[in-house]
Amino acid sequence: MDRRDFIKTCGTVAVASVLDPSLFSQVLAQQQDGMFQSYKKALLVKPDGKPIKEEDLKPHVSYVFFYPYAATPCYLLNLGEAVPPAEVKLKDGRSYRWMGGVGSKKSIVAYSAICSHQWSYPTPQYSFINYYPPDKPSETTKRAGIIQCCAHLALYDPKRGAGIVDGPAEFPLASVVLQEEGGMFYAVGILGKDQFQQFFENYRTELRQQYGSTARARELVERCTVTEVEKYIKAVVRC
Ligand code: FES
Repeated sequence: MDRRDFIKTCGTVAVASVLDPSLFSQVLAQQQDGMFQSYKKALLVKPDGKPIKEEDLKPHVSYVFFYPYAATPCYLLNLGEAVPPAEVKLKDGRSYRWMGGVGSKKSIVAYSAICSHQWSYPTPQYSFINYYPPDKPSETTKRAGIIQCCAHLALYDPKRGAGIVDGPAEFPLASVVLQEEGGMFYAVGILGKDQFQQFFENYRTELRQQYGSTARARELVERCTVTEVEKYIKAVVRC
């Protein structure tokens, strides 16, 4: 996609989302060469069940929620500044347009928290893949403002669609497409190359233990409870 097409596409999707939110997913799907998959539209809520608002999301604090399936974790971040759309490149030469942050400051972003390298993911016990805020750089890579997976040091840039910064990952983290309506936030689909199939195959036993059955782990969600990572995960492993 050249720069002119890229800007034109951003404008078209933005207009569609304002005029008719139902057009949003259709336009996005048509323009993303199969890189966008719409799922159930799911409201993001606080642990008390009330819709999450922009002011509930503290800048540079990591939040976890599950979308599009009951067992697939995602990170929600308020990056504290406007995050413009970006073109995200894949190693196979393809690219797609990531639409940037949402909210009044365009600072809120969400990504799958399943590492695209070998599917490390946050569990209630521990997490190797985490966001490193600007004031807490990684001791190993000295980088900050990144999502880093300590399993094999894959680095992703949350300000640019979770594109690859460094390390062994072949693909960016998949993006959760968020829509804001009346001050509430909805997840509507996944943009990019998701790792859900590999995730479910690789962690079949663990997910069955945690959710009671594979079918339950694969249930599509309609509401997503957003929890601070530090409250959900016992040991956040930083490196
Ligand atoms: S599983 Fe994340 S870097 Fe390998």
